[in-house]
Amino acid sequence: MSFIVNLLLAVFRALFALLLTLWDGLAALVSLAGTALGAYNAPGGFSKNIGAALLSPANQIRGMALLRAFAPNLVLKRQVVAAYENTGTAVVARGADVRNMLARDADFEVVYGPRMRKLTDGENFFLGMQPGWDYTRDTSAMRLAARTTDVAEIVQPRATELANRIVAESGGTIDLPPALTLQVPWDMTERYFGTGGPDAATMQDWTTTLFWYLFGDLGADPELDAKSMADAAAMRAYLDGAVATAKTRPDDRDTILNRCLALQGAETPGMSDLGIRNNLLGLLIGAIPTISKASCLALDELLRRPDALRQAQAAARADDDAKLAACIWEALRFNPHNPVIYRRATRDTVIAPGTLRGRTIPEGTLVFAATLSAMFDRRDIADPHAFRTDRRFEDYIIWGIGMHTCFGAAINSAVIPAILKPLLIQQNLRRADGTAGQVDTGGTPFPQHFTVAFDPA
Ligand code: HEM
Repeated sequence: MSFIVNLLLAVFRALFALLLTLWDGLAALVSLAGTALGAYNAPGGFSKNIGAALLSPANQIRGMALLRAFAPNLVLKRQVVAAYENTGTAVVARGADVRNMLARDADFEVVYGPRMRKLTDGENFFLGMQPGWDYTRDTSAMRLAARTTDVAEIVQPRATELANRIVAESGGTIDLPPALTLQVPWDMTERYFGTGGPDAATMQDWTTTLFWYLFGDLGADPELDAKSMADAAAMRAYLDGAVATAKTRPDDRDTILNRCLALQGAETPGMSDLGIRNNLLGLLIGAIPTISKASCLALDELLRRPDALRQAQAAARADDDAKLAACIWEALRFNPHNPVIYRRATRDTVIAPGTLRGRTIPEGTLVFAATLSAMFDRRDIADPHAFRTDRRFEDYIIWGIGMHTCFGAAINSAVIPAILKPLLIQQNLRRADGTAGQVDTGGTPFPQHFTVAFDPA
């Protein structure tokens, strides 16, 4: 008897979830139609305005709702990505399928290897590797050099001190990327990595360009290719020099570079001069523009939501770091650094096997796992459209999931709140007037300017 009751309940729950998903999809469709009409009526007309309108975080969320309702596993013969070899395109939108796909490394491989090799002029970097000895060797060695315990002992205290000072000295108006959000992670690469480049501006520029080239340049822009090759050559020369200098004129700084050389002295696999250079190159590219962008997007989202902003400010002022972090992760759920992660099918394989939405993904297909969509799937996330600070961290996919989960995850968790806290403590925190108060990416995937103001004490 209880079996039948449980079965009926399960069927009822599944139908209810399906109806809600369809309802969300229809509501999204109506809103997107409104957006299209708005773009048509705006100065410059439809074609000038629709692209930017659809890329707004709120409209991306609506677009994903549409996919979850009507095409949860979309498979197209068309190749959308030119940067990496592929035979077609797919988008996976349901939360369970996104998580499942990113756990199936044998079916869905990372694609970045060829471009990583162009940047190192030879070897792959571990984000471009499939499971195996090379991946284990490099990640293990680098985890010994960049230890999780460093975050509380070295990284967070310095980020806090520097961010506090920058905000205190700003006089109440601050253009975040150049003055704060790029500066703090750059300082980490200088003091903690031991490889901050010839100067801050150069390292920030190199890493921004190379991150864009590796992950964002889906159309394979030849101009970006040329700049990336030049920047990568300059960065390799700088890092080769830094490794050589650290060996010929050693200092006693407790840096990742010096720890790599100590591991080299102990004959640790992967820690040749070239191995150290390539691992540092990969880490640097991941570290600077990402933290800056995530910090800007989180604050941008909080400033769009007065109630959420008040919660974050109260937490910052009360030194309630757990609550402050919860506000920031929730803001990033609505406005994440990257709304998708992509992989390539290594063989014909099925997504969501045994379900009505199951689809075969042909070998060679470039598959977008819509992580933003996963964070709004009602089946997994309670009350997804509400800004809530009581979610579990596992509900978020804000820096990857599975084998390639961000190497800097612990750093991000400490440094982003350290950057934002001194701002949130201020009175009357607000956007600067006019366009200066909006995130300006200057044609790149990363915020270049975003000015906020507050009433100095
Ligand atoms: C908010 C800031 C950051 C965001 C949003 C971010 C995002 C990501 C994402 C989405 C992935 C997975 C990519 C994939 O699976 O295809 C990843 C991996 C990675 N990230 Fe980050 N990242 C951030 C900060 C950092 C920092 C500070 C570092 C360096 C200290 C770093 C180094 C890496 C590396 C090396 C990997 C590859 C890990 C592996 O293959 O095992 N990232 N990151």
